[in-house]
Amino acid sequence: MAMVNIKIEGVPYQVEAGITILEAAKRCGYEIPTLCAFNNGECSRASCRVCLVEATGARGLVASCVYPVAEGMEIRISSPKAVAARRASVELILSNHNRNCQECDKNEKCELLHVARVTGAREGIYEGEQTPVTVDRLTPTITRDTSKCILCGRCVERCKAAHGIGILGFENRGFKTIVAPAENRSFINSPCIMCGQCINVCPTGALMEASEIDRVDAAMAAGKYVIVQTAPAVRAALGEEFGMKIGTPVTGKMVAALRRLGFQKVFDTNFAADLTIMEEANELLARVKTGGVLPMITSCSPGWINFAEYFYPDQLSHLSTCKSPHEMFGAILKSFYAEKIGVDPKDMFVVSIMPCSCKKFEKERPEMECNGLRDVDAVLTTRELGRMIKRAGIRFDRLPDEDYDNDIVHDYTGAGVIFGVTGGVMEAALRTAYFVLTGKEREGIVFKEVRGFEQIREAEFDLAGVRVKVAVTSGMKGAKILLDQIREGKSPYTFIEVMGCPGGCINGGGQPYVREAFLPNEDPDIMQTYKQKRANALYSEDERQVLRQSHNNPQIKALYDEFLGEPNSHKAHELLHTHYHPNRQRFDDEKRNRPFPFGTGDFYDVASSRQTMLSLWDK
Ligand code: SF4
Ligand code: SF4
Ligand code: SF4
Ligand code: FES
Repeated sequence: MAMVNIKIEGVPYQVEAGITILEAAKRCGYEIPTLCAFNNGECSRASCRVCLVEATGARGLVASCVYPVAEGMEIRISSPKAVAARRASVELILSNHNRNCQECDKNEKCELLHVARVTGAREGIYEGEQTPVTVDRLTPTITRDTSKCILCGRCVERCKAAHGIGILGFENRGFKTIVAPAENRSFINSPCIMCGQCINVCPTGALMEASEIDRVDAAMAAGKYVIVQTAPAVRAALGEEFGMKIGTPVTGKMVAALRRLGFQKVFDTNFAADLTIMEEANELLARVKTGGVLPMITSCSPGWINFAEYFYPDQLSHLSTCKSPHEMFGAILKSFYAEKIGVDPKDMFVVSIMPCSCKKFEKERPEMECNGLRDVDAVLTTRELGRMIKRAGIRFDRLPDEDYDNDIVHDYTGAGVIFGVTGGVMEAALRTAYFVLTGKEREGIVFKEVRGFEQIREAEFDLAGVRVKVAVTSGMKGAKILLDQIREGKSPYTFIEVMGCPGGCINGGGQPYVREAFLPNEDPDIMQTYKQKRANALYSEDERQVLRQSHNNPQIKALYDEFLGEPNSHKAHELLHTHYHPNRQRFDDEKRNRPFPFGTGDFYDVASSRQTMLSLWDK
């Protein structure tokens, strides 16, 4: 590896040739403020000018995020000229920014506020023209507020990098420039799959999840029987909201916090992940035996379902008909469980804590209901749960470890836990498929071949004489490759797992923001390793479980014996399965204006943002 000699603030260093000044400075122990450059270098627009430094060989100041080091270069980060320039850049950005920080949900992890602090930016230095404001609150998933947008382009890059579909782009010129879906449409009226990856990289409050905390508050105040369920990936990341190291599993503290927040029952979505595996593994085997449509593709990830409906409407028969685990759980809670505990399901309110912002959209689908009741009533992201815990004054770090409610729907196996990471659904299904085919347990529970983070992983297994070739991917770039193969009749696979977010739910659009600037105690390579650390938290919980295959969950067996009959039975189909719509039309006024189930107001901010959007479209 070729090295070059440089000096930073007069101190000599050797660094790799060709890397940027920003990267070199980081390796030598300096932090240069940035806004448009993301920690893992996804952005190359160099538009914010917050990273300016002085460097010999260059004319004037240079943007360190794109300027490469060279032999003999002397770099000044703290020269008066560089310090003043960085401060002016931030002041200019702030001059066109809606600075209502105290009511902005991003304020704890706002990078603009952070760079304003470190550069010493002053208030009201520049005044002038402002960008016209568009507020899009029409989807149940994402809000977009151009008054908070600094045009860094990170969201544009992330959407392309994760999915290759480029929903967001720059519109207009000059002060009228905004970042939006094409023609400044609402997300709801675009092919956005609602994954929330753009929210994860936005440095400000311009892109946020649509909060449902008020909905949960209202349900509690209305005296509903409020049950909460938590997805596997939440426990692997919630601690980060309270300063814990990435990858710290916090299952017990999370349960304790939820109880203190007033939820009447606290359950684990893993119970329903085991149920999903029973349905999905049996669906797969039925397709194999009867010559059904193959490959079958998993259906737990709503972002992936949105992608398939929009871009591959002719291939929907490949999708498993299983609802995702939290929707299955909602349906079971409002039928089997409600009857068992003697609560009218109309009085139940089911809240899902999810790593995924798209689950907010999924729960609004018309199919996600049974007997006229929604399966799930509200979805909160891991970040929203963090906010609720802080609002309640709960010291998370001092909580005891508590267990989920010991009830007839609380058992779960290790197979359910690994649902939260790419390859996990496949591995859980394979663990059970072997048993269903042979009636025996396979030696060796782990299927290592399907673990990892490569874009597409494939493996072939002999399950008691049945050859099964499988593929796993996450992010829609990989899904596109696999779907194109299917469309061309060239797919060699029997079973495919697709998750919407790169890395799976551990990296979902509702997980805590990962930013080096806010993680002083993490390793310098945390942007490259955080997904593996969160995944390890789930794999270690799987290893700690006595039961690690879904079919061995005694409460799942009881559920079939007492209520569902057998996997894929008529009743199971009624409650646990769904169907898909080619080219789903999502711009649906009637649904969008649906009032709260108990009459406290409109879910969507129709009065303000809808008018704003519609008036813009009229022009
Ligand atoms: S995005 Fe940041 S600077 Fe802007 S209002 Fe929110 S917290 Fe304040
Ligand atoms: S939610 Fe996902 S698909 Fe939609 S714009 Fe953001 S990154 Fe792209
Ligand atoms: S919405 Fe956020 S990420 Fe996208 S350009 Fe604006 S500030 Fe940057
Ligand atoms: S971070 Fe370098 S120009 Fe924005």
